[in-house]
Amino acid sequence: MNSTKDSDRSAWLLGPWAKCSSIPEAGKTAWRLVLLGAPGVGKGTQAEILKQRLGACHLSTGDVFRAAKQQGGDKSPAMKAALEYMRRGELVPDATVWEMVRERKHCLLHCRGFILDGFPRTLSQAQSLKELMETESIALSAVVNYELPLDEIVERLSGRRTCEQCKAVFHVTERPSKGGAICDRCGGRLYQREDDRPESITVRLEAYERSTAPLIQFYRNLGVLTPVVAKGTPDEILGRTMKGLDRANDRVKTA
Ligand code: AP5
Repeated sequence: MNSTKDSDRSAWLLGPWAKCSSIPEAGKTAWRLVLLGAPGVGKGTQAEILKQRLGACHLSTGDVFRAAKQQGGDKSPAMKAALEYMRRGELVPDATVWEMVRERKHCLLHCRGFILDGFPRTLSQAQSLKELMETESIALSAVVNYELPLDEIVERLSGRRTCEQCKAVFHVTERPSKGGAICDRCGGRLYQREDDRPESITVRLEAYERSTAPLIQFYRNLGVLTPVVAKGTPDEILGRTMKGLDRANDRVKTA
C-alpha cells in the first residue's frame, strides 16, 4: 500500500524542479479536495486511503516542511524560520507557505486532482488558493471537515509514531506497528514527532482554533463544506467521507 511507486510525491516534496516517477492515467473524475480539521484528527491517515481510492495526489504542506528538515544542506532563511515555527507548534507565516505552494502549482493541475492536507490553514491562504484556482479555471469538489472531540484528538496526537524512512503513520495503541518500535512496512525506526510533545500540542490546538476554524464558515459560505464525524476506525471514516463526496458530486450536477 505504501510502496515507493504508489506514494511517490517527488514534485510536491522536493520542489518545482522534481518529477514524480509514476503519473496515474487520467480518470473520469478529477477530485479536488481540501481536508480540514484540527491537528491529529486523522487527515493524513484519510488522505493516504483516499489517494488510493480516487487516484488524486496527496499534498501535505507539513510533509514538505518535514522533508526540508531531513534533507540537510543549506536552507533559506525563510525555511529555517519555518522549521522553528513548526517545532514550537505555531503556524508558519502565510507568505512562506504560499510561496511554497505557488511554486508547486503544477501539482494542483494533476489530471486526477489533489487532496490538500494541512493547507489552507488561514483565511489569507484560503483566499490565495481560491484566486489561483479561478485563474486556472478549476474548482474545489469538496472541503471535508473532520470533527472529533478534543480529548480524542489529544490521545491520537500523543500516541502517534511515524516511520523515519517511509513516513507511514502508526498509533501506539490504536494502530500499532506489528514490529513494535520498528515499521512493519519497511523496517525503518519509528519516532515521535517533535511537535507531538505536550507543550507543542497545546500551541497547535490554540493556533487551530484561532486561525483555521474560521475556514469552516468560509467554505460553508462557498457551498462546498462536507462535515464528517471522525470517530471510529479509518475504514468507517472513509465510508462516511465517500458518502459525503457522493452528495457533493450530486450537488455539483444539479447546480
Ligand atoms: P501538519 O503536518 O499538517 O500537521 P497537523 O495539521 O497538525 O496534522 P497532523 O499531521 O498532526 O494530524 P492529522 O490530522 O494528519 O492526523 P494523522 O492522520 O497523522 O503540520 C505540522 C506543522 O507544519 C504545523 O503545526 C505548522 O507549523 C506547519 N504547517 C503545515 N502546513 C501549514 C500551513 N498551511 N500554514 C502554516 N503552517 C503550516 O493521525 C494522528 C494519529 O491518530 C496517528 O497516530 C494515527 O495513526 C491515528 N489515527 C488516525 N486515524 C485514526 C482512527 N480512525 N482511529 C484511531 N487512531 C487514528
